[in-house]
Amino acid sequence: MNDFISVRDLSAKEIVCLLDMANRFREDEYKISTQLFAANLFFEPSTRTKISFIVAEKKLGIEPLDFHAETSSMKKGESLYDTAKTFEAIGANVLVVRHEADDWDKELADKLSIPIINAGAGKKDHPTQSLLDADTIYQEFGRFSGLKIVIAGDIKHSRVARSNAEMLSKLGAQVYFSGAPEFMDESLGYPVLSFDEAVENCDVLMLLRIQHERHNEFVGATLDYHENFGLTIEREKRMKKHAIILHPGPVNRGIEIDSSLVECNRSKIFKQMENGVYVRMAVLTKQLLNWGIIDENKIEKCNSLEQRQYIRKVRTVN
Ligand code: NCD
Repeated sequence: MNDFISVRDLSAKEIVCLLDMANRFREDEYKISTQLFAANLFFEPSTRTKISFIVAEKKLGIEPLDFHAETSSMKKGESLYDTAKTFEAIGANVLVVRHEADDWDKELADKLSIPIINAGAGKKDHPTQSLLDADTIYQEFGRFSGLKIVIAGDIKHSRVARSNAEMLSKLGAQVYFSGAPEFMDESLGYPVLSFDEAVENCDVLMLLRIQHERHNEFVGATLDYHENFGLTIEREKRMKKHAIILHPGPVNRGIEIDSSLVECNRSKIFKQMENGVYVRMAVLTKQLLNWGIIDENKIEKCNSLEQRQYIRKVRTVN
């Protein structure tokens, strides 16, 4: 059975299906009518992702289990594998994991009888973030094809850049990178635009934070960053009328973006956070269905037949 680890494993059809499902959750209320527990194992700091998983679980009626890496037995030397096995034994029905290692999933792959959802893997993957970004873009434009999407910032150390470039290309958008030369990664194979060119021509400008925690040495580009590679008030004025600003958060105001632009009309940054809850509800539900932990009869809308037929349709896509 497949875990939810990387955009690489998803077809465009499956992505659209998850977006469609997220939309259902946005429009109506659904509950899973059996007792389920979710373990949210976060070994890196998180505000948005962790809390939106917890809200998604609670909205579905899944009980989140309390876990804090700092006060867990991992401090006594327990491995990620033994921690995960422990949660499985105690009764968790799904694991949500964030870890600083790019390939933490390899330690758990095919060894558990419950699904694992990736909430961030090193600088490699962040599939639920790219899903919520795609959701936000679709809400604004109603399409992906023909859209010029620029991902700007510390591409080299960003899992958000990697997952988004792959997902948005799969959905038909034209993806570009932009930013300081030290932060580009040619091996990823996406075209690079100068920041001014990017700002003036894009439909979507996705700004990223400098990933200081992943730098081993001082990077010169971090000096005068806002003037050289940040969205200043002056640059924002040169954006196309309909263009939108995205940022996965946390935002460093005054560095990658002027503080006054974080909540401007074209910024969808807080909309992204809201959408994160619905896409995570979709991913949790899809994994529980795929693994046979629930069936469609356990998902109760507070309307029934139509929803059961819908869930059956979702399953046949796999
Ligand atoms: C991002 C992350 O952790 O990868 N944030 C998030 O999940 N919303 C981006 C970042 O930390 O810069």
